Amino acid sequence: MNKAVIGLQWGDEGKGKIVDYLSENFDLVTRYQGGNNAGHTVIVENITYKLNLIPSGVIRGKVCFLGQGIVLDPDHFIQEYKKITEKITDPRIYLSSNIPLILNYHKQLDRINESILTGESKIGTTSKGIGPAYQDKVGRKSIKLYDLTNPHSLKEKLSSIKKFYDPILKTFDEDLIDIDKNLELLNNFFIQVKNLIVDNNVIKKDYFNKKILFEGAQGALLDLDHGSYPFVTSSNTISSNISIGSGLQVNYETIGIFKAYATRVGNGPFPSELFDKIGDYIADKGVEFGTVTKRKRRCGWLDLVSLKYSCEINNVKELCITKVDVLNELDEIKICKSYEGKQFQDINFSDSAYLSNCKLNGSDFEIFPSWGNIDGMMNYDQLPQNLKNYVNFIEEYLNLPIKIVSLGPERNQTILR
Ligand code: GDP
Ligand code: IMO
Ligand code: MG
Repeated sequence: MNKAVIGLQWGDEGKGKIVDYLSENFDLVTRYQGGNNAGHTVIVENITYKLNLIPSGVIRGKVCFLGQGIVLDPDHFIQEYKKITEKITDPRIYLSSNIPLILNYHKQLDRINESILTGESKIGTTSKGIGPAYQDKVGRKSIKLYDLTNPHSLKEKLSSIKKFYDPILKTFDEDLIDIDKNLELLNNFFIQVKNLIVDNNVIKKDYFNKKILFEGAQGALLDLDHGSYPFVTSSNTISSNISIGSGLQVNYETIGIFKAYATRVGNGPFPSELFDKIGDYIADKGVEFGTVTKRKRRCGWLDLVSLKYSCEINNVKELCITKVDVLNELDEIKICKSYEGKQFQDINFSDSAYLSNCKLNGSDFEIFPSWGNIDGMMNYDQLPQNLKNYVNFIEEYLNLPIKIVSLGPERNQTILR
């Protein structure tokens, strides 16, 4: 069966690590949304791989496909591709010819968008031009990879884009769009990647009866339609976007990934956020600093209310918990099980105003005792009973099995049940 690895929180759940772990048994690993706002760190035998666009299956030499639902920054892709070729010989990476590109004006517009918002209303984007690039896709202005084969229509497209955006760029003292510079950049880029570009039907035909692993980026609570709007990313991160974003109309089962606690980068509601030294402790021990922007991630207790919602909107069939080792030494560990007494059916997870004002109290949490050191444990039976109790509580609440427990960043620090 094909599988989808989906983050159930606000991103950085360890999707990259789990995709690498699972990809052994798959033929094709596919991204279907997001761009280089994603940052996935994978450690295999002491070698660290940092990936943004290229699916983690590349580490095992799997064929990787970037579907049309992503947005691709040409400069960034070339850099990432070069870096991976230093570690992996002849990576097999294909790009859908329908992929929309992120160009410099998208990054300028991302900056402008953020600059006109004040204080808490700022989104805190990764500044990679993601939102404006998706705006152009919906607004039918994208330059797509297939356009690079036709310099004449490319120039025409850039001319109308210039007419549309230059007045805004001028107002904000940004450089205006330079058509020749963009044409040159795109031409150089095309020369370097033209052998990687394929039409969707090629991948469809070649992988019709093969096993496909889908790699989600960001997390369900950052989904454009289902997350805490407007503090979301600009793509649909949930599993139902897979067919649209990959162009592959196949069945799959979803494994939902979550950390043993919660983190969020950027602004937006976070009901179980910790503002005390325990939050700082988790950030330090969990090395919770953004891969893309190096920002410190906000930390909080595991939130089962939003997790249950994420499981439902992703049609999750099984679960993976990561980073349980980070909580080892805490005297007590909490899990959020309601919001002001309310369960997930009674909450609108898009309504940021409600979520931001939500004040959790003692009865909204279940408390667990420490489970101590778990270093070197290689199977589930070895784990301390206190950790098993924690895992059982989550399984019962979510009514789903936890099939993978991750105890460290290395590929082999992973227990399959
Ligand atoms: P992604 O965006 O979901 O792929 O997650 P990131 O890679 O951005 O963030 C997860 C971080 O946690 C990475 O630095 C991983 O190396 C690390 N990590 C993954 N699983 C574990 C784990 O079980 N324990 C610890 N301590 N670190 C982990
Ligand atoms: P991975 O795949 C965590 C967040 C940003 C910001 C919001 C919108 O590593 O889990 P954007 O640049 O997408 O317009 O920013 O989304 N964000 C992420 N947070 N992990 C990510 O990806 C993220 N990608 C975007 O911090 O709050
Ligand atoms: Mg990440």
